[in-house]
Amino acid sequence: MIKLLLINHETRYELVELIRVFFPGQEVISIDTKNDYIGEGILIVNSLYEENGIKFATTSLYINDVLVKQSTENIELIEIYGRSIDKYIRIGIKKSLYNTLISLNEAKIPWGILTGIRPVKIVHELLDRNIDDNEIIRVLTEEYKLYIDKAKLILNIGKKQRKYIEPLNKDKYSLYISIPFCPTRCLYCSFPALPIGRYENHIKEYISKLIYEINNISKMMKGKNINTVYIGGGTPTAIPPTELEKVIHCIYNNFGQKDIKEFTVEAGRPDTITEDYLRMLNKNNIRRISINPQTMNDGTLKLIGRQHKTEDIIKTFKLAKEIGFDIINMDLIIGLPGEDILHVKKTLEEIKRLDPENLTVHTLSVKRGSKFRDTIDKYSLQPQNILSTMLNETMEYSKDMGLEPYYLYRQKQILGNFENVGYCKPKMECIYNIAMMEEKETIMAAGMGSVSKIFFPEENRIERVPNFKDLKEYVERIDELVENKKVKLEGS
Ligand SMILES: C[S@@+](CC[C@H](N)C(=O)[O-])C[C@H]1O[C@@H](n2cnc3c(N)ncnc32)[C@H](O)[C@@H]1O
Ligand code: SF4
Repeated sequence: MIKLLLINHETRYELVELIRVFFPGQEVISIDTKNDYIGEGILIVNSLYEENGIKFATTSLYINDVLVKQSTENIELIEIYGRSIDKYIRIGIKKSLYNTLISLNEAKIPWGILTGIRPVKIVHELLDRNIDDNEIIRVLTEEYKLYIDKAKLILNIGKKQRKYIEPLNKDKYSLYISIPFCPTRCLYCSFPALPIGRYENHIKEYISKLIYEINNISKMMKGKNINTVYIGGGTPTAIPPTELEKVIHCIYNNFGQKDIKEFTVEAGRPDTITEDYLRMLNKNNIRRISINPQTMNDGTLKLIGRQHKTEDIIKTFKLAKEIGFDIINMDLIIGLPGEDILHVKKTLEEIKRLDPENLTVHTLSVKRGSKFRDTIDKYSLQPQNILSTMLNETMEYSKDMGLEPYYLYRQKQILGNFENVGYCKPKMECIYNIAMMEEKETIMAAGMGSVSKIFFPEENRIERVPNFKDLKEYVERIDELVENKKVKLEGS
């Protein structure tokens, strides 16, 4: 257990997150005075103070009551081009903690002091202020302490995203639709994923409420400009094609087919995708779908609870290509239990033969609410250096396939403190993914467990409007959800 004492500030949450990056799995407890430390184990004291009008942050690390390391940061010397003094103070506090812990710890910390989900946002803030590339790299590596390869990666991604973000437009929005059903729940998953076998009788009612919600969103958004549509989940193709087709028709009727710039259906699990399904999507002019392997190793697929084999993925992919989808995305997860570098290479070789237009490489994350988290002791997981080699392979293979990184995000509890990267063939970025990740556009979301995000460009902030995560509540209290969105939009 690690004890944390803060003096003259309350930046507790971010410091606890950063300590966890250095000491994964360890409990961190806040104490109010040094008397609460009984002189055993680790104590971290982080204080903020002023001397001659200059603000400093100091971190002291004690092990068994002995001061082992101390580091002080002069906050006046930080230059991150931020807007508020609070932000400078937070960075100073975190840097002093980082500098204290880094010399003691074997772990690699590629993302430096960053613990958030969206590191590319920092690049956009700097680009908004016309900061040049060299200075952005300096800010990322010296102030935020990123490794140079991560700094260059997010700078490139940020620059690639600019044309999809700018100019900011208060009236532009995308639509997200949640279909929270799946054939079975995968080991690692914490998304809304109700097993279809048990919920068959609820689907028609769910779809009718969903359509009611979409109709209402359309009324609220009159006069504004639809950008993209994304039907995700869950696994949208787990429900009968006639039901999903109703949703697609409802979207076209409400928002106008020709005005939608991009329409994705996350088909996802190959065990739900039939030829009839693909033909229905194609007939309805859906041009982007996902067919997600996660891995191309049958043993692992079985272990993670997916009821399909590698050959099903290949067959489904080829069929989808034959039918004529423009963009097929494939999701992979690196670090799955039992997988070594040879498994990852086998997966990448298979993917290379298929040559998808988009590839999304996730690093396994130990999510709260997943079976994996509850049974983690049963599995053998790779150490950070092997995960790093695996991720480098995914980068090399992507380059070979002509794929370039275009969006990136991180997760709490991600193995090895790494990241998820979306790759695409030139000009085949998924615009929705960028909008959703960078939060520079309103996303109106319908369906159980979905979250609408209303963007306020003048204040550069978003406001979340979540739907219920429970099916019964979603169905019974749909009018409240519609009303919530209306009220929040009226304030925008
Ligand atoms: C919302 S899920 C839906 C995809 C679809 N139902 C499927 O499974 O093919 C989107 C993606 O997130 C990734 N994912 C889900 N849980 C994860 C975890 N715990 N760690 C890393 N990636 C995860 C998977 O690659 C998955 O394809
Ligand atoms: S990973 Fe996909 S298929 Fe598996 S449970 Fe999650 S949403 Fe469902």
